[in-house]
Amino acid sequence: MKTRGAVLFESPGAWEIVDLEVGEPRQNELLVEMVAAGLCHSDDHYAKGDAPAPLPLAGGHEGAGVVVGVGPHTPGWSEGDHVVMSFLPACGRCRWCASGRQNLCDMGRYLRDGTREDGSFRLSHPGHDHDIAQMCGLSTFCETTLVDTAAAIRVEPDLPLTSVCLTGCGVGTGWGSAVNSAEVSPGQTVIVMGVGGIGANAVQGARHAGAAHVLAVDPVPLKREVAGTLGATETFETMGEAIDRARSLTNGQGADSAIICTGVLLGDHVRQAFDSIRKAGIVVVTALGHADDDLAVNARELTLFHKRIQGSVFGGSNPTCDIPLMLDLYRSGSLLLDELITASYPLEDINQGYADLHNGRNMRGLITFGASSTA
Ligand SMILES: NC(=O)c1ccc[n+]([C@@H]2O[C@H](COP(=O)([O-])OP(=O)(O)OC[C@H]3O[C@@H](n4cnc5c(N)ncnc54)[C@H](O)[C@@H]3O)[C@@H](O)[C@H]2O)c1
Ligand SMILES: [Zn+2]
Ligand SMILES: [Zn+2]
Repeated sequence: MKTRGAVLFESPGAWEIVDLEVGEPRQNELLVEMVAAGLCHSDDHYAKGDAPAPLPLAGGHEGAGVVVGVGPHTPGWSEGDHVVMSFLPACGRCRWCASGRQNLCDMGRYLRDGTREDGSFRLSHPGHDHDIAQMCGLSTFCETTLVDTAAAIRVEPDLPLTSVCLTGCGVGTGWGSAVNSAEVSPGQTVIVMGVGGIGANAVQGARHAGAAHVLAVDPVPLKREVAGTLGATETFETMGEAIDRARSLTNGQGADSAIICTGVLLGDHVRQAFDSIRKAGIVVVTALGHADDDLAVNARELTLFHKRIQGSVFGGSNPTCDIPLMLDLYRSGSLLLDELITASYPLEDINQGYADLHNGRNMRGLITFGASSTA
């Protein structure tokens, strides 16, 4: 069938809205009519050339929609099901899934090429002689897309898809970065560096895990303002100020953890976070840097202060259980989702949405299919 989607033909480059052909759903595939898709910084890394992109690439890895087609011999799914996409699939059978670490599922290795497990592409560009890679196997920036059932979480139909779509990347990643990766526990002092779509949820996660002090750092006033409504106990424009405050709260020791959620990871961010934590503290690196960058921290301090640098993909979450858990927290009013969406855009304005992300004009921008801009 035909659809339209935002495709990157070159990197660096801009998103182009083009006609696409979507394959027929095969076994374990769902055809999904998208309702909303979040503008995560990870798609923008490809647009900016921070990492090598599989091109052409139909973007988008955060989103939700309604199932309009189910592959043959695919039990448990029906047309009309509401689904949130998980940006990492979970096969349920590999070593990682079986040991409760679905964020590391072996199916993830195919996502780098934007293909399915068998190497096939499921989108193409009519009239042109090439297949189109799918961002994380999803391509949520398409009006209709084809996804593997391993990346779809069915949700109750009364939940607003325009809000709960964020649990499939930004919320799960940020929240899990605090709850799972930083191992935040009651009474702790936590620094969240960068409070965009991901960091905002690290703030919420730190609050849920019982942190006494959640120090949120962002140079952009809008981000600091929203962070305050999500549970940040104090906000700062620079890491220097947050480090001073963390030390003053902890008798000079430093924060228990620092979670890095900046737009593009730089070596300086890691050095500042490393400096900010106490002995045996944890730096969580959630932000993505340039593909060929290496990092350096002080070697003796790493060893003698027993510090930990913890990488974190999808916040160490298990989407099959953590997305429903987050939806329960949303229903009960303790996880805020509606408040994260500060601007929505029609698909045609996607480049404006990303420009606004860079200008600090949105917290989480949202593509709403068939709607007009509220930026
Ligand atoms: N590890 C994962 O699984 C995962 C998943 C999704 C996104 N990400 C990555 O997380 C990062 C954040 O994504 P996002 O969508 O929230 O981006 P975003 O652009 O919405 O937010 C980044 C924020 O960092 C702030 N910032 C920039 N430099 C800063 C500094 N020196 N100190 C403090 N704040 C600073 C910006 O003002 C902005 O508010 C990106 O690198 C993204 O690719 C990782
Ligand atoms: Zn993302
Ligand atoms: Zn698996």
